[in-house]
Formats: sequence, C-alpha cells, structure tokens
Amino acid sequence: KSNAVITGVGGFVPDNILSNSDLEKMVDTNSDWIVSRTGIKERRILTDPTLATSDMAVAAVKNLLENTGVSAEEIDCLIIATSTPDHLLLSTASIVCDKVGLSNAWATDVNAACSGFLYAYTLGASLVESNRYKKVIVIGADQNSAIINYKDRNTCILFGDGAGAVLLEPTTEDIGLMDSVFKTDGHGREYLLVPGGGSKIPATVDSVEANQHYIRQEGRIVFKAAIKGMTETCTEVLKRNDMTIDDVNWLIPHQANYRIIHAVGENLGLSEDRVKVNIDRYGNTTAATIPLCLWDFKDDFKHNDNVIFTAFGAGFSWGATLLKW
Ligand code: ACO
Repeated sequence: KSNAVITGVGGFVPDNILSNSDLEKMVDTNSDWIVSRTGIKERRILTDPTLATSDMAVAAVKNLLENTGVSAEEIDCLIIATSTPDHLLLSTASIVCDKVGLSNAWATDVNAACSGFLYAYTLGASLVESNRYKKVIVIGADQNSAIINYKDRNTCILFGDGAGAVLLEPTTEDIGLMDSVFKTDGHGREYLLVPGGGSKIPATVDSVEANQHYIRQEGRIVFKAAIKGMTETCTEVLKRNDMTIDDVNWLIPHQANYRIIHAVGENLGLSEDRVKVNIDRYGNTTAATIPLCLWDFKDDFKHNDNVIFTAFGAGFSWGATLLKW
C-alpha cells in the first residue's frame, strides 16, 4: 500500500497590502475593533484587473515546482480548491494547467469554500494511494476581493487574496495522510453565500444592482458553528485513531477569525505554541489559508510530527484531517 505524503509546498500572495487603517477610510470601522474581534492586521489584495484566481494559483505552482525541482511534465493531476473561479463555465484548473505547461496532467476544481483545500487534499491523496497517480498537485486559491462589497463592514474587513499549493507523492513509509473526518450540512447555506451569479440568480443588471454578487454572512451563527464543527471533527479524528491531543504536534486551523482559532485550541486542550496562526498578515483567504500556513511554517515541522488540519466554511462544510509529516 502506498501512502500519500506532502513532498513540497509553494505559495503566493499579492504585493498590495490592505491595512486596517486603509479600511477605516472606506467603512465605519476602526483598527482596534478589527484586531480585537478578528486578529487581522492586514490582508493582501490582487489589484491588477487583468489578473484573477488562476494567476495566483499559477504563481504558487511555479514556486512549488521550483522548491521541489520537479518539472511541469511530470505532474499527473492537478486539483484546485476555489470558490472564486475565473469563470463560471470552465475549470480554473484547466487555465492553471495551460499557463504552467502541465502537459501530461488532467485537472479539475473542487468547491467547498473554506473547507475546499481540506477536501481536495484528501481527494488528491486518494489518487496517490490508489497507485494510479504518482505526482498530484493540490491547490487552495481564492481571490475574495472579487466577491467582496467594500461598503459592507461586516465582511470587507475579513477577507484577503492568496494561493497555496502542495505536491503529493507516494511513499511506503508510515507517514502522510492518515484519516479525515468530513461533514457537510446544506442547512447552513443561507448563513454564508454569494447568492447571485449562478443558475439560481443569474447575473443580470437587477441582481447586480441588488448586490447579489457579493458575499453575505450571518457572522455570529457562522462563528459558533465553526468552533463547534472544528472542535468535534478534531476530537473524532483523534478518537478514531486511538490518539489523544497530547500526541498532536501541530494544529493548522482555517484562518477565519483568531477568536475561533483560539477557542478551538482551548476546547481541544492544545497550548497556543502548537497552533499555527498567520491570520494577522493575510486575513481569511478561504481555500488558501491552510496551504499558506504550510508555506509559512513548514520548516517548523519535523519528520513524523502528527499534524491536524481543520476547517469550516460555507455550505456548511467542515472537517479535520490527521497526517504524519
Ligand atoms: N467595525 C466596527 N464594528 C463592527 C464591524 C466592523 N467592521 N462589523 C460589525 N460591527 C459591529 C456590529 O454592527 C455590531 O454592532 P451592534 O452591537 O451595535 O449591532 C457589533 O460590531 C458586534 O457585531 P457582531 O457581528 O456580533 O460581531 P462578532 O464579534 O460576531 O464579529 C465577525 C463579527 C468578525 C464577522 C465574526 O462573527 C466572525 O468571525 N464570524 C465567522 C467568520 C467565519 O468563520 N467565516 C467562515 C469562513 S468564510 C467562508 O467559508 C468563505
């Protein structure tokens, strides 16, 4: 049996910084409120109108190939988790394949919002474990600035743009992805969504005038559901593998709000130094948060370290993945 192990990490964030003081000039908010309620100090925004989600994913994949020394032709498959695709019809993965020159890969998108990378990582690992695919790239990438109303203080302070990518390869060692506990509950769909632009409310002058193409969120409901969902799935994945929290070296949680991250760590009984946090610099980059944490912190992880990824997002969709680094 082959296990699927992460053999490389790449990432990209745009140069342009949107700080809390910039936002103070755009909506009725203040930096102290944002920092104390979310932990976010700044986020990166893709401002060049000729660029989109695929361009950030391309930059992350190029960085990954450079870091690993693997050539574009060697890649068998590419999965990109995104809820801000370049286009509604045609996968962003196709565009990334073309722009990077992955001439031997097939490619597809996964949309599970903030849980997207978690789901895509398990799907990609299953392909490697099947022994049919040797080199699989999994990306999390989102250009949230494309779906944010910068007049809505409830959402515009939270989100940023970015992309992270990992390479998965087979190993006979007892490392790599061990188990995932995933949940999907469509009852949550009304609390966090972009209502317009799809088949239910197609993009029209009226729908755009009604701001239906922007993200909407019932923050308090999502906040509570996120803490509960991530705590429960982390607990379940540990129990299922006869492990306790003391066996866990690192928790990499989805970066939506520092208070959510802190509460999940506290519920699990994990000390803060074992929980990775970069929300202060990037905000919530949706599917990109976990791979961007890997990009920032991978040098801290040692061979055989037990790591948990956990996420919660629109759908609702959530879960926890246990792996050995
Ligand atoms: N600046 C100043 N005041 C604000 C701001 C702001 N930017 N935003 C809201 N407020 C006000 C509200 O109007 C409210 O005022 P009121 O009491 O007079 O009505 C007060 O602050 C408190 O508002 P709450 O919504 O209760 O604030 P809360 O502490 O819940 O923080 C937040 C809001 C940050 C949105 C939080 O609820 C949150 O992080 N929710 C979860 C986000 C998340 O996890 N999303 C999931 C992933 S996203 C994805 O899947 C795409």
